[in-house]
Order: sequence, then C-alpha cells, then structure tokens
Amino acid sequence: MHTYRIAVIAGDGIGPDVIAEGKKVLTGIAKMDGKFAVEFTDFPWGCAYYLQKGHMMPENGMDVLKDFDAIYLGAVGYPGVPDDVSLQGLLLKIRRGFDQYINLRPVKLLKGAPCPLKDIHEKDIDMIVVRENSEGEYANAGCRLYPGTPQEVALQTGVFSRKGCERVIRYAYELAKKEKKTLTNVSKANALGYSMVFWNEIFAEVGKEYPEVQTSSLMVDAASMFFVKAPARFQIVVTSNLFGDILTDLGAAIAGGMGLAAGANLNPERKFPSMFEPIHGSAPDIAGKGLANPLAAIWSVSQMLDFFGQEHWGTRVINAIETLLLEKKTLTPDLGGTAKTHDIGTAVLNILQRNQA
Ligand code: NAD
Ligand code: IPM
Ligand code: MN
Repeated sequence: MHTYRIAVIAGDGIGPDVIAEGKKVLTGIAKMDGKFAVEFTDFPWGCAYYLQKGHMMPENGMDVLKDFDAIYLGAVGYPGVPDDVSLQGLLLKIRRGFDQYINLRPVKLLKGAPCPLKDIHEKDIDMIVVRENSEGEYANAGCRLYPGTPQEVALQTGVFSRKGCERVIRYAYELAKKEKKTLTNVSKANALGYSMVFWNEIFAEVGKEYPEVQTSSLMVDAASMFFVKAPARFQIVVTSNLFGDILTDLGAAIAGGMGLAAGANLNPERKFPSMFEPIHGSAPDIAGKGLANPLAAIWSVSQMLDFFGQEHWGTRVINAIETLLLEKKTLTPDLGGTAKTHDIGTAVLNILQRNQA
C-alpha cells in the first residue's frame, strides 16, 4: 500500500483549527479508499515558535521538508511578530526555496455558496487563476538608503526573468489547451513599461505554439472591474505574483468568501514538494473561537489529492463541500450557520461516506 508522507505546518491563528479539519477529511478518505495511506508529520513552526527561538523555522527546516510528498500549511502571521519577518521566514521561503512557481487558485462558485453579485449563477464563476509564484513583485530585491534621514529612500525591484515568465505562461496555455478553455492574460503594460511589456511579449511568443487556445488580454484594473461586473468572461487566467494575490482575494469575495478559497503552490517538475493551503491568513479577529470556516483548507486537500493522481477523490471532496453548502445544516457563521470549525470536517466526511455507500 502506498503511503503519502505529508509535512503539516498548521501555523498561526486559525491555521491549526482549519488544518485539523483537513487532516480529519484526508485520514477518513485514506481509510475509505483502502489502497493508500497518509502519514502526517507536524511541525510547530510559526510566530509562537519565533518568539521562543528567534526564527520561524529551524535553520535546517527546508532540508527537513524536502523529502515529503507534500506540505499542508494553515496560515502564517500574527500580531507580535512583524509580517515581513514571519512571512519571509516561512511561507515565502518555502514557495521560493522549493521553486513552487505555479500558484493554482480556483475561483469557482459552488451551488449553495453565497455570492454578493446580482444575477450571477454558478456557471458564471468558474475559473482558475494561474498566479506566478516565485519572482515578479515578490522577489523582494531592494534596499533602504539613508535610513532615519529626511532623504530616506526605499527601493523594491520587480524581477521578471524570461525563464520565470515563460514557464508560468506556458503552464497556463497547457492548462487551457487541456481543458479546452479560454486564456486571459492579466498585466499592466501601460504603466509598467519594462516588466509588464516583457511579460506581454512572452505571452504573445508562447501563444504562437498554441493556436488552438483562444486568448484575450486585460489590464489588471479592468480585470478587477470585470471580476465583479462580468466574471463569466474568465476561464483560465494567468498573471503576475502580486496581481494574482490581489485578484484571488477578489475572486474569493465573489465565490463564497475567504473561508472557501484554496490554493496549490506547485513545483510541477516534482523536484521539490508542493504546498497546499487555504489562501486566507491567520484571521486574528476570529482566532481561538471556533468560528473559522475550514472549507478552504478542505478544498486544498482536494487539490493535494489531484496532485497525487487521486483525482476521483479530489472531485468527490468538492462535491461533498457542495452538498454541505446546499444542505445548509452544518455551516460556520461566515456562511450564515452556527456550526463550529470542528463540526465541518466531520460533516464533510459523513457526506463522503454517505455517497460512498
Ligand atoms: P485574513 O485572511 O487572515 O483575514 C481577512 C478577513 O477574512 C478577516 O475578517 C477574517 O476573519 C476573515 N477570514 C479569513 N479566513 C477565514 C475563514 N477561514 N473563516 C472565516 N473568516 C475568515 O487576512 P489579514 O487579516 O489581512 O491577515 C491576517 C494575518 O495573516 C497577517 O499576519 C497576514 O500577513 C497573514 N496572512 C497569511 C496568509 C497565509 O499564511 N497564507 C495569507 C494572508 C494573510
Ligand atoms: C497569499 C498571502 C501571501 C501572499 C502573503 C501572506 C505573503 O496573501 O497567499 O495570498 O501575498 O502571497
Ligand atoms: Mn493573499
């Protein structure tokens, strides 16, 4: 029997609460399947760890993680530790260090999920945002000059390499071709005359190899507007690191809220482990109260199963989430219910078992 070895970094705030539910679902699925097992190894890394030890993960942390089949991450960041220290020291270090250059973020309105838009149906919001995840605006190259003086300057350089742009754009074309979907390129070449002009050139170049893929291009400001006014325009979307970050919170808002938005940080070559996480943060405002919605964390389990080649289970998890939303019996307060975080994994598992029988 094959055993998937999963490193778990539950992290801060609501991270541990939502991850516990995802683990519950994945453990139950392995039992139901009977042909594979899962083995979790928990790492207590995060802000509390930092306050004790002075670093977000041990010095050999990346070495420890590198042989796992996947990383399952909750959330990182908490008041008391500056966000640049906590995120650079853990989440962003893993994304960059393991060359997880694809961030796949589904924006899909499931039946039963709340949508704040008028006259919009499930079929109108069904896209996948392919976010560049290793460089761009997040390369964190820069410096501070003349600190503490009136002449103080901060420089933050975007890094757009040919290799970096090409591989994410190619991934998006491949996905669009495979799924027979349209591809929208989101950039901002009118104002960013170096990076985004280069990005658009590469989008056009790579596109020559995919004549069958129907494409369009939008500036990120217009794309944001169309996410709200006409989300049905989008099927596969490819964009830079920062634009993808912002657009996918907007995507979450139109597709059920932060409690339902998942993301997969992929190293497609499988040289390093990929990482699966809800896209929300540690939500200090609701931490420790049992109010967090773990469906995003459970959705990211579905992405992990897809990545393991267990797509039939990946699909069943999404279907079970949809059933839960439609039944409206066990939902957290963000979705209008009164259930606690720990009720949700159990309910999803019950639905999976019911459907299996
Ligand atoms: P956030 O996503 O934590 O919270 C934004 C809002 O959404 C809050 O009102 C929160 O209560 C709500 N929310 C988020 N997840 C929810 C869930 N599962 N169920 C119900 N409601 C939910 O964003 P923020 O407040 O900007 O950031 C808080 C901290 O998390 C910061 O330190 C930030 O840097 C960090 N952060 C981490 C990640 C990550 O680890 N992937 C992502 C985003 C933010
Ligand atoms: C996300 C988060 C991270 C990002 C932060 C916490 C660095 O917002 O995963 O969307 O910007 O990528
Ligand atoms: Mn974000």
